[in-house]
Amino acid sequence: MPRIAYVDGAYVPLREAAVSIEDRGLQFADSVYEVAVALNGRLFDWAGHLARLRRSLAELSIAEPMGPSALDLVARKLLAKNRAREAILYLQVTRGAARRDHGFPPNARPTLVMTVRPFDMSIRARQQATGIKVVTQPEQRWARRDIKTTSLLPNVLAKQAARQAGAFEAWMVEDGTITEGASTNAWIVESDGTLVTHPADHNILAGVMRGTLIRLACADGFKVEERAFSLQQASAAAEAFITSTTAPCLGVVSVNGRPVGKGAVGPVTLRLGRLLWGEIERQTGYRPATIG
Ligand SMILES: Cc1ncc(COP(=O)(O)O)c(C=O)c1O
Repeated sequence: MPRIAYVDGAYVPLREAAVSIEDRGLQFADSVYEVAVALNGRLFDWAGHLARLRRSLAELSIAEPMGPSALDLVARKLLAKNRAREAILYLQVTRGAARRDHGFPPNARPTLVMTVRPFDMSIRARQQATGIKVVTQPEQRWARRDIKTTSLLPNVLAKQAARQAGAFEAWMVEDGTITEGASTNAWIVESDGTLVTHPADHNILAGVMRGTLIRLACADGFKVEERAFSLQQASAAAEAFITSTTAPCLGVVSVNGRPVGKGAVGPVTLRLGRLLWGEIERQTGYRPATIG
């Protein structure tokens, strides 16, 4: 797969792609981003990602670099140039390059960067059988986690702590409540089968996959409650799982080394996983060889 990036109007080899060292994305993390997956060459839940990007930009008063249909065109052209079938599309918009000064620069033009890298989604389908381990970390992020900014240092530290503990994800705990993972949303399944996930307020990022799963689960007859849950409730839950664009539905088998439920991926999580893979196939035609 060739590696071509899009930077401010030009399609360039990844190794030559560059932005100014005075870009506010670099200087202040004054920027927002999106991550979408292309499967079978088609973007999954793309409209949801474009809508969230527009919202993030508006919340921070960063100008849209171009309208949604032009953005869509660039993304598709970039996927085609990279001959990408199964890939992650990364998109970042910064407030632009300007002399370093905290306040908004008067005439900055937003910088738009897009990259594509190969991604084998079938790994996630296989991971569904074994599940993942989670550790908890103190919530250290700012008060507007609903905006998808590149200001991710607390997420980076939490993920690294998880890796060092041999876990896949870190769940952030604030006042005894689990907000979300470092790069995923957190869910539990109660003993009566109710699905619980944190409300989409300022304390978490409203994951696109989270929204898709709520829609599919409700249509399938599940009761879904958007409310905060504690670490104790998670430990006592029948099942727990995470969702994200690149990890559609992975069962959590332990939190801080203590088993959740029976310590294996539960039947509800597996059913929800099948619902999501069905939706992925419906939108993109992609179906992994094995679904755990
Ligand atoms: C903090 C955080 N929460 C949740 C998610 C899941 O969002 P999505 O389902 O849109 O990938 C992400 C994804 O990057 C994230 O960074």
